[in-house]
Amino acid sequence: MKTYRIAVVAGDGIGNEVMPEGIRVLDAVGRKYGFGFHWDEKPWSCEYYAKHGHMMPADGLAQIRNHDAIYLGAVGFPGVPDHVSLWGLLIPIRREFQQYVNLRPVRLMPGVPSPLANRKPGDIDFWVVRENNEGEYSSIGGKMYAGLESEFVTQLTILSKKGTDRIMRFAFELAKKRKRKHVTSATKSNGIAITMPYWDERFKAISAEYPDIKTSSYHIDILTAHFVQHPDWFDVVVGTNLFGDILSDLGPACTGTIGIAPGANINPEKEFPSCFEPVHGSAPDIAGKGIANPIGQIWSGAMMLDHLGHGDASDAIVAAIEKVLKDGPRTRDMGGTANTVEVGKAIAAAI
Ligand code: NAD
Ligand code: IPM
Ligand code: MN
Repeated sequence: MKTYRIAVVAGDGIGNEVMPEGIRVLDAVGRKYGFGFHWDEKPWSCEYYAKHGHMMPADGLAQIRNHDAIYLGAVGFPGVPDHVSLWGLLIPIRREFQQYVNLRPVRLMPGVPSPLANRKPGDIDFWVVRENNEGEYSSIGGKMYAGLESEFVTQLTILSKKGTDRIMRFAFELAKKRKRKHVTSATKSNGIAITMPYWDERFKAISAEYPDIKTSSYHIDILTAHFVQHPDWFDVVVGTNLFGDILSDLGPACTGTIGIAPGANINPEKEFPSCFEPVHGSAPDIAGKGIANPIGQIWSGAMMLDHLGHGDASDAIVAAIEKVLKDGPRTRDMGGTANTVEVGKAIAAAI
């Protein structure tokens, strides 16, 4: 029996509550489809930081480099500044392992009410393809004239040709497999004078390689408005690191709750392990109450199986989620009263 070695980083807050449900469902689907998992649990988190002064050991990434995948909950909790916790764990995983694609589906599921009026399943069904290794997320820059009246900070935004072209090609390749074959670019070339015109230039160049794919381009401000008013316009949306981050919270919010939104940090070349984690964070406001929605974590597990070559088992998880969303228990963010474990067990039972 094939056994996958998975690094488990539950992390902080509700990461620790939703992770066991993800594992429960993956174990269940593995039993059905004839493969198994070795879960290599790493305690790396803000709690770990409090004890050791760093988010993971110095050789942390080396410890998981040869694993088949990384399954992650959430990183960041009050007590450790967010940029310290995230740049100490999640961002190094994404960068060191060249997970330059952050792939996040946005889908209105049957039985889930959308906060947008009169939207039904099928009306909202698109992918956010977010650049995940560069862009606005950088640690290059600094403070000048500290303490003086003239004090200021700067920070570089980096769009490399390689990094920009490869994320755009990924978006176009994904669109090729879709019915509507449409890629939308998120830009802001009216206000951001160097990087964003470059983004547009590369979008035009890469789209020329895909004459059969329709394209659109919107500035990020009006694009957010279109997400709310015309979510049916979108099929594949490609954006920089920051724009993709924002769109991948807004999109799922339009489909009911970010609690069900999954994500994949992918190294498409499979030279390094990819990392699968929900879109949401550690939710300090509800952590420890056992009421977090585990579906984002569970669906991220389905994306992991797809990446590992088990499309059928992955589809089985999504089908089980759909079944439970239709007539099973729901957590409070979806208007229900069920707890995290009840929803996880219901989905595992539906496999
Ligand atoms: P958040 O996603 O943690 O929470 C935002 C809101 O959504 C909260 O009201 C929360 O209760 C709710 N929510 C989130 N997930 C939910 C779920 N599964 N079920 C029900 N409700 C859910 O965002 P935040 O408050 O901005 O961030 C909290 C911490 O998490 C910060 O430290 C942040 O940096 C970190 N964070 C980490 C990741 C990650 O690890 N990928 C992602 C986002 C935020
Ligand atoms: C996400 C999160 C992270 C990001 C933060 C926590 C650094 O918001 O995964 O979407 O911005 O990438
Ligand atoms: Mn985010």
